[in-house]
Amino acid sequence: MGTKQKFDGYASQYDEWFMKNDNLFTSELRLFKKVLGDITGKKLLSVGCGSGLFESYIDCSNVEGIEPSEDMGKIAEKRGVNVIKYGMIEDVDLPEAAYDIIYFNGSSSYMEDLTPVYEKSLRALKEGGKLILLDVPKESAFGFMYLLGKSLGTYDHEYLKDTMPELPYPLALAASGVWHSTEEKINVLKDLGVTRFDFYQTLIKNPLYTNEEPEEVAEGYKSGGYVAIIAEK
Ligand SMILES: C[S@@+](CC[C@H](N)C(=O)[O-])C[C@H]1O[C@@H](n2cnc3c(N)ncnc32)[C@H](O)[C@@H]1O
Repeated sequence: MGTKQKFDGYASQYDEWFMKNDNLFTSELRLFKKVLGDITGKKLLSVGCGSGLFESYIDCSNVEGIEPSEDMGKIAEKRGVNVIKYGMIEDVDLPEAAYDIIYFNGSSSYMEDLTPVYEKSLRALKEGGKLILLDVPKESAFGFMYLLGKSLGTYDHEYLKDTMPELPYPLALAASGVWHSTEEKINVLKDLGVTRFDFYQTLIKNPLYTNEEPEEVAEGYKSGGYVAIIAEK
C-alpha cells in the first residue's frame, strides 16, 4: 500500500459536495468547457484528475490523467479517463512535446512548488499547446474563507458567522490546500518564458450566494472565485 494522499478517503465527499452545490458546479463546468475549447483530435493530460468528475461531462477518450489518490483515480478510470500514473506530478517523467493541452483543474492548490511542475508541463506540450490552470485564487473571497477556516480549525466561529455558504467545501480539504494567488502563478509562468496569456473567471458572487444560480463565464481574473489561466507555449 502506498502513502496516504491528501484526497484519500474524501472521494465521495468531494463529488457529493459538487452535486449538492449544483449551481456552483455548473458555473465551474462552464469555465472548464470554455477554456478547453474544441478538443476534437487533441491529446490532453489532466494533472490531478481526481475522480474525473469534470471529465465525465466531456468526451474524455483522449484525456490522460495523473492522480496520487487511488480512491479518486479509480473513479476517474470508471468515468473514462486513462489514468497513466498513480502518483504526484513531481515524480512523473512526461514525454517531450506530446500533448496539445495539459491542465490542472484545482490541483495546483495542493502543490507547494509550482515552478518545477509547470516547467515539466511546458516541456511536455507541443509548440502552440496550452497549459491551463484552473483554481480558487488565494486573493478571492473563497481563498480568504478557506484560509480563515484553516487557521481557526473550523468554519463554525463567530468571525465567519452569517458569511458562510450552506454547504462549504470540506474543511480538511481547505486546510490541506496551499492556496496560491493568480499573480504568483502568472509570474512563475513568465519566469519560465511564457508570453501569451488569456484569463477567464467565474464564481464572481460572494460565496454565500454562489450556489443561488449558475454564472456566466467572464473574461479576466481579478474578481472570480474560480479562475482559469491559459498559457500558450
Ligand atoms: C481539488 S482536487 C481536483 C480534482 C479534479 N481535477 C477535479 O477538478 O475535480 C485536487 C486533486 O489534485 C490531486 N493532487 C494533489 N497533489 C498532487 C500532485 N502533487 N500531483 C498530482 N495531483 C495532485 C489531489 O489528489 C486531488 O485529486
